[in-house]
Amino acid sequence: MVSQSISIINISNLDKTYSLNNNPVHALRDVSFSIHPGQIVFVMGPSGSGKTTLLNLVGGIDSPTNGDIIVCGEKISEYSDRKLTKYRKARLSFVFQFYSLIPTLTAVENVELTMELMGMNRKKIRKEAKEYLKKVELEDRINYFPSQLSGGERQRVAIARALAKNPEILLIDEPTGQLDQESGDKVVSLIREIAKLYEKTVILVTHDQELKKYADRIIELRSGKIVSDTDFA
Ligand SMILES: Nc1ncnc2c1ncn2[C@@H]1O[C@H](COP(=O)(O)OP(=O)(O)OP(=O)(O)O)[C@@H](O)[C@H]1O
Ligand SMILES: [Mg+2]
Repeated sequence: MVSQSISIINISNLDKTYSLNNNPVHALRDVSFSIHPGQIVFVMGPSGSGKTTLLNLVGGIDSPTNGDIIVCGEKISEYSDRKLTKYRKARLSFVFQFYSLIPTLTAVENVELTMELMGMNRKKIRKEAKEYLKKVELEDRINYFPSQLSGGERQRVAIARALAKNPEILLIDEPTGQLDQESGDKVVSLIREIAKLYEKTVILVTHDQELKKYADRIIELRSGKIVSDTDFA
């Protein structure tokens, strides 16, 4: 067991201000929190409250205006673009709302590609890719192309692909935005089950109140500020 007292993500006094037509847009204001290894944290809040901005900052695809972000002991808020690229590759997987699977590759090839890019052992790749797809209950769809899969199935391929990278942290933005309640519920319950199995840390953005039951903790944002932080564990 990983000690609960050490945090894997530590955010302090984070501000993000965008400039739009010379007017400041305060996307995040004085946001501070820490996350323990293995915790499944949902970020909730109305549209425009700063959820994606927060995910992008933790994911090193955007930089803060002020404040510190420390992930796995790395102070990424001070990193150059080159160091951020290395950080993203080593530490995390993103799952975006619109799946971003490669349309000309089958489900299993989409998963394999990530493993190849990570330089994993070629002989093991096919077998492991199939195992990840089995974990998301798609063993009978491995040779389907994305266009032949339902929205929920595509999202599950995206999750298999994110897991295949074997990151410490999964960042997941609105995984159910395009799905009906039942498929969305299945996707998020699988995320929880697999994250617990592999001891991954998850930050997941959602609007859906019905999905709250799958969170260890819920951080709620409003106008760029944390208005509640509830730990169920
Ligand atoms: N590149 C940008 N330039 C200017 N303003 C931006 C930019 N990106 C985001 N914003 C603004 O920052 C605020 C937070 O945006 P963000 O995308 O984080 O919201 P969100 O909570 O993810 O919303 P949604 O639920 O609609 O996805 C919004 O007011 C948005 O208009
Ligand atoms: Mg968003």
